Amino acid sequence: MDIRVDLRSDTVTKPSPEMRKAMYEAEVGDDVYRDDPTVNRLQEKAAEMLGKEAGLFVASGTQGNLVAVLAQAQRGDEIILGDMCHIFNSEAGGVSVLGGVVMYPIKTDRHGLLAPELIHAAVKPRDYHKPPTKLLCIENTHNGTSGRAITPAATRVMTDAARAHGLRVHLDGARLFNAAVSLGVDIKELTAPVDTATFCLSKGLSCPIGSVLVGDADFIEEAGRWRKILGAGMRQVGIVAAAGLVALDSMIERLEEDHVNAKKLAEGLSELNGIVLDPEDITTNIVRFGVPAGSGDRIAARLKEAGVYINGGDSDLRMVTHYGVDSEDIDFALVAMRKVMKGLA
Ligand SMILES: Cc1ncc(COP(=O)(O)O)c(C=O)c1O
Repeated sequence: MDIRVDLRSDTVTKPSPEMRKAMYEAEVGDDVYRDDPTVNRLQEKAAEMLGKEAGLFVASGTQGNLVAVLAQAQRGDEIILGDMCHIFNSEAGGVSVLGGVVMYPIKTDRHGLLAPELIHAAVKPRDYHKPPTKLLCIENTHNGTSGRAITPAATRVMTDAARAHGLRVHLDGARLFNAAVSLGVDIKELTAPVDTATFCLSKGLSCPIGSVLVGDADFIEEAGRWRKILGAGMRQVGIVAAAGLVALDSMIERLEEDHVNAKKLAEGLSELNGIVLDPEDITTNIVRFGVPAGSGDRIAARLKEAGVYINGGDSDLRMVTHYGVDSEDIDFALVAMRKVMKGLA
């Protein structure tokens, strides 16, 4: 059967017709000379929305995090981050590979938070046996805990602990607009406590490529140097940035629809035998759930035969809602999942 619903990730989203038109018509220039008016507009708009001085268009969320860390920690320095975060688990150790930066992971709680006591305990005393601790990295929404939206207050608890030691703070906000929409807060409230933040255009916001890194003007200048070192100074990239401007104008409010669909999916899944899931834990567009040990790959394969595409795994599976998945698709996925889970028994 053809795939009817692709729930692997919100990265599978395709650009909207309006984005394609804007890309076709984009005014462009050489961005390495800072001459691309569309990129400049996107960077300014993103910085303004997130309440920071300046922005830098980067190729991906991974590149934004990498540039952010390399611009704030030197070779031999240490960063503290959660043991379930994307930078630590899913970015191929880039900050260590390319920057010689030591990652010190601390335990993440089930809501995606890092306890202040653990942050305090992780900071190294001044001692030449130890790498100097420079930066705390946090993540919102927190992908590993079902896309948990982290409130401004909870963010401040973590950033206050870091500030007490003079650390800077970077926020991996790949899905930060999902968090703002879910919590009903201005995105600035989520970025005010941090020095630097990234958000992705290519996930729920449905652009084909790109993320934006924001911070103060000096930091963005330094981040631009690191982007150049990484070989990612781009030229007439306004063609891509044009989609980002459309996304910031027209794709944010609709994220609520993805959250409603995710909740409906979670409620349906939680009723099925063999699935471990508390729908209360679902606050944005990522639905993680437990299945019997060793059955994840089989479930994914059978779902695919039924027209529903998800990634495999052992006992932890994930479904992600996004632009292009509607409420009827959720019904379709639930019917398929019910049959698959029955067949397992
Ligand atoms: C929380 C988080 N940060 C960063 C990234 C990396 O983004 P990209 O795939 O654009 O490199 C992802 C990707 O899924 C993510 O979930």
